[in-house]
Amino acid sequence: MYTELKKFGKVKTDEPLSKHTTFKIGGPAKYFVVLEDVDVLVELLQYLDGEGMPYFLLGGGSNMLASDSGFDGVVIQIKDKTIHIDKNTVEAAAGAITVEVAQQSMKAGLTGFEWGVGVPGTIGGAVRGNAGAMGKEMKDDVLKVLVYKDGEVLEVNNEACGFAYRSSLFKREGGIVLKVFLSLEIGEENLDAKKKMLEFLKYRNTTQPQGFASTGCIFKNAELDQSTELGKTNKEKLFAHFDEHDEKIQQFLKVGKISAGWLVEQVGLKGYTVGQAQISQRHGNFIVNLGGAKAADVLSIIETIQDRVYNEYGIEMEEEIQIVGDN
Ligand code: EPU
Repeated sequence: MYTELKKFGKVKTDEPLSKHTTFKIGGPAKYFVVLEDVDVLVELLQYLDGEGMPYFLLGGGSNMLASDSGFDGVVIQIKDKTIHIDKNTVEAAAGAITVEVAQQSMKAGLTGFEWGVGVPGTIGGAVRGNAGAMGKEMKDDVLKVLVYKDGEVLEVNNEACGFAYRSSLFKREGGIVLKVFLSLEIGEENLDAKKKMLEFLKYRNTTQPQGFASTGCIFKNAELDQSTELGKTNKEKLFAHFDEHDEKIQQFLKVGKISAGWLVEQVGLKGYTVGQAQISQRHGNFIVNLGGAKAADVLSIIETIQDRVYNEYGIEMEEEIQIVGDN
């Protein structure tokens, strides 16, 4: 396998995933392949599919938790980070950094994607998870994507991407995003875009933990309309415990979701620590790595949060992060 893989790009064996994830957690990948461009990626994926070899495409290493035992297959990283802008269309290789896509779009006089400045990871990963911030999500700006699926490269338009809150068809059913096309607006006053960006960054920096390794939000926010056991919606469950007129509750009603971080705070788990993993004091939907945390510590915290919130309010919390490898 090693010699075959070398035909496609640089190959390392037993490469610690902790070196490649924003959480700085994760055991070794059996093979770690670094590719220069997307064309080679398609050939590699066809080869791996033919061999029935498990693989995993590493985006920016954010929004994921790699297991302590690592990944018994091929982890692929793409070097191609190119971004081309033509009129109001931004064409980005899946490996392009989302923050850079946002900054270059703004520099080219485009507006609409300023919020991307607060999203860690690559644009391919952002599409897969329908990343969002500041009330917007990828769904709002994607024109179309190129995707590898079942040996073929397909062009998929926005509607066919099956975007849902923090999810897409590719996250649910597989498919590797190769290229992303965004459709933005030509801005009238570029200073506004810059101001917006700085405001987004300021909001993120004051409400989310800084200075520690983390992986972004752990859970999806709980959708108010979602019905749970006994046919009760999350909204009804919330109202059983909190005053409808409360300012925070009003805010959640407006966006249709209960902030997962707020729920963690309500059950008193902020600061809860297992090993070297700790629920952030600043935002309850973040777990920070104090140094040398294990995936097992994080998983134990995740389970505690889910149990506590369910027992107290009957609300089920679903992970947003992708868990890679067996624990
Ligand atoms: N809140 C608390 N305690 C907390 C956390 C939040 O009371 O520990 C309150 C805040 O004070 C605020 C409300 O809950 O009134 C909402 O909080 P925030 O604005 O931080 O937004 P969020 O709903 O917790 C979402 C996204 C983030 C995104 C922010 C900012 C999800 C799961 N989270 O968080 O996305 O950065 O909005 O736009 O949708 C991610 O998906 O990885 C992520 C970090």
